[in-house]
Amino acid sequence: MQLEETARLLVAPERGILAADESSATIGKRFETLGIPCTAESRRTYRELLFTSPGIERYLSGVILYEETLKQATQGGGRFVDLLAERHILPGIKVDGGAKPLAGHPGEFVTEGLDGLRERLIAYRDLGARFTKWRAVIAIDSARPSRTAIQANAEALARYALLAQEQELVPIVEPEVLMEGDHDQERCEEVTRAVLNRVFEALRDHGAHLEGLILKPNMIVAGKKCPIQPDIAAVAEATLRTLRQSVPAAVPGIAFLSGGQTPERATAHLNAMNQSPASWQVTFSFSRALQEPPLGAWAGRADQAALAQKLFSHRAHLNSLARMGRYSPTLEGAV
Ligand code: G3H
Repeated sequence: MQLEETARLLVAPERGILAADESSATIGKRFETLGIPCTAESRRTYRELLFTSPGIERYLSGVILYEETLKQATQGGGRFVDLLAERHILPGIKVDGGAKPLAGHPGEFVTEGLDGLRERLIAYRDLGARFTKWRAVIAIDSARPSRTAIQANAEALARYALLAQEQELVPIVEPEVLMEGDHDQERCEEVTRAVLNRVFEALRDHGAHLEGLILKPNMIVAGKKCPIQPDIAAVAEATLRTLRQSVPAAVPGIAFLSGGQTPERATAHLNAMNQSPASWQVTFSFSRALQEPPLGAWAGRADQAALAQKLFSHRAHLNSLARMGRYSPTLEGAV
């Protein structure tokens, strides 16, 4: 079955996923801090730099694109989707319309984009996409998330997943419990478990084919402002415990988001999780934790492109090692 085959390829050993699907507004903010003008051409140039980096096909199984990028081409005129496919990297597409304030629930969000999604999915598939992503955002503090926010996002994720599977596109189901705040690790675990349980309940209710989807969760970390930060082993242990309690073994793989962790921390956490056997593949689907080093080095300067590509390939390699439990911090800085 095509869905299962695509899902297996996405979480194949030694490989993970690059999330390069930042909306124009999100990448604009990242460009702005580095003084890079944000235009369709600067975004195209940057993404060409990433996708043509030497050796990345050994470490990346897929790239999640933003709609603009799905339709863009290299400077030489070849479509990005074809370039990626030639490198045996599956092209995917973010299909949600972004997290919007949830009415009646201050500080909470619901992801929109279901209207007209079937037609968009058909068009994306025709353009060469093989998989999709939908991100739900769950705000966390002592009172949040509300049951309503969890419920609304879980239902939307399930409806999206079914629509994607209908078009033979693997859905990446991403319920992200945010790192913003001063909550402790225990609270993150409690909320993440509740969210994942509700998401899989909705997926089952809607009839999702669990063998043909990928889960993209947060790791179980403390809020960025929490004075007590768990060490690497504690994050790995809590994350695996939470996932074992909530994620059916039928799901072929879990591809983590990095969520604002430093690249080194995200890699170390992934590596620690891959020391223990699990019923699903455990890999990465990072945006910031893969892109921060190359983006900072490039900063819009053509003469820095080669260095940026080296840093990107190196980061992808380190995450590929971590995905197999073979990373060591001593490998940092080898570029
Ligand atoms: O939706 C979020 C991205 O796909 C993952 O981004 O690794 O920077 O959290 P991140």
